[in-house]
Amino acid sequence: MQNTNTKNLIKEKAQKYLSSDYIPKKLLHREKQINEVTKIIKAFKKSKYCGKHFLFKGLTGSGKTITAQFIKKIFNDDVLYVNCLDEYSPSKILNKLTNSNIYNNFALTQKILIKQLNQSPKVLIFDELGKIREKKKLLDILNNIFKETNCMIIILTNQIDFLSKLPQDFQNTVFLYRLDFPSYNALELKDILEDRIKLIDKSLLKELYGFFGSISAVCSNIGSARLLFELSKEIINLKDELPKEDYINTIKKIKKRLEDQTIRDFIFSLNRNEKTTLKEIFRNIKTPKQKISSRVIEKNLFNLGLSHTSFFRIFKAFEDYNIIQAEIKSVGKGGRYRLIWFENDKYNLLKAIFGEDI
Ligand SMILES: Nc1ncnc2c1ncn2[C@@H]1O[C@H](COP(=O)(O)OP(=O)(O)OP(=O)(O)O)[C@@H](O)[C@H]1O
Ligand SMILES: [Mg+2]
Repeated sequence: MQNTNTKNLIKEKAQKYLSSDYIPKKLLHREKQINEVTKIIKAFKKSKYCGKHFLFKGLTGSGKTITAQFIKKIFNDDVLYVNCLDEYSPSKILNKLTNSNIYNNFALTQKILIKQLNQSPKVLIFDELGKIREKKKLLDILNNIFKETNCMIIILTNQIDFLSKLPQDFQNTVFLYRLDFPSYNALELKDILEDRIKLIDKSLLKELYGFFGSISAVCSNIGSARLLFELSKEIINLKDELPKEDYINTIKKIKKRLEDQTIRDFIFSLNRNEKTTLKEIFRNIKTPKQKISSRVIEKNLFNLGLSHTSFFRIFKAFEDYNIIQAEIKSVGKGGRYRLIWFENDKYNLLKAIFGEDI
């Protein structure tokens, strides 16, 4: 039996080791991405010439930020990492990169950064770049900096159509190589979770044996390690008060709440066209499980001027986030469309989000 002190210590350690601030010694299931990027950074350090810039692309919780931080830890001062959401304006981002505090003087901070980078070439990592309001302005500045210096750029995003919306100027100068971060499957999530649980307390592996498998399985819908950690933290906090028979039901309930929050965040981060597309699907479906063809949605939203490929990406993202269910149908000459429907819980969630708005 564990005494109160041990129980509290376990809870404290769970907070620490399951938080996004903790950088583990080894990143499971991201070896391929890490190898690919470290190879290019090593070559860049040696020759001062950058062979590849990267776009880390993947759904929420797929390990983009932790991989970037892991890389920063390996290369230390050769890497400058900035989370654009924390700094929220191009001038603050430049201040962070130059380690200065000059208010709103782009010309000066740009000059300082260019000088610094020419003296000592660096890898610049921009996390959440898609989400800042003045994205175009920042990309123009970056483009300018890139023309004047030798630096390597890594951008992280979970946005659907990020690449195709980059300003042409930027695309002409900085060719971003897309590095995919696929969502984790149940087995990968279980590995990742057990690796952290060992750091908290090995006895938990035995005590909660079986439940980590269930937690990993219920999180594999979206495949997010963040969801996995949040859920595990809550279960560890509750474990002493719950009869074992209630575990599975509790896991399901907490998972539903956390997953709904993930979906709400995702919908909140959509741009106008993407949100309009989701609303249009919802507007056309009167009951859960009723199916609608993606062709009808595309036709109804003709005036948005989106290409078939853009719609395809949007539908795919809704499917990846498990908001819609879809069945792909083929028609002659490689044409494809989706039959789309909602499960009960997602239908009700959208009803709560869009409400009278439709
Ligand atoms: N391979 C992994 N090994 C260990 N921990 C991981 C791994 N992948 C992700 N995590 C953990 O899962 C959580 C979410 O990961 P992370 O923040 O990197 O996701 P992200 O892809 O940046 O998501 P978002 O798009 O929402 O920013 C973090 O706590 C991170 O430490
Ligand atoms: Mg991130």
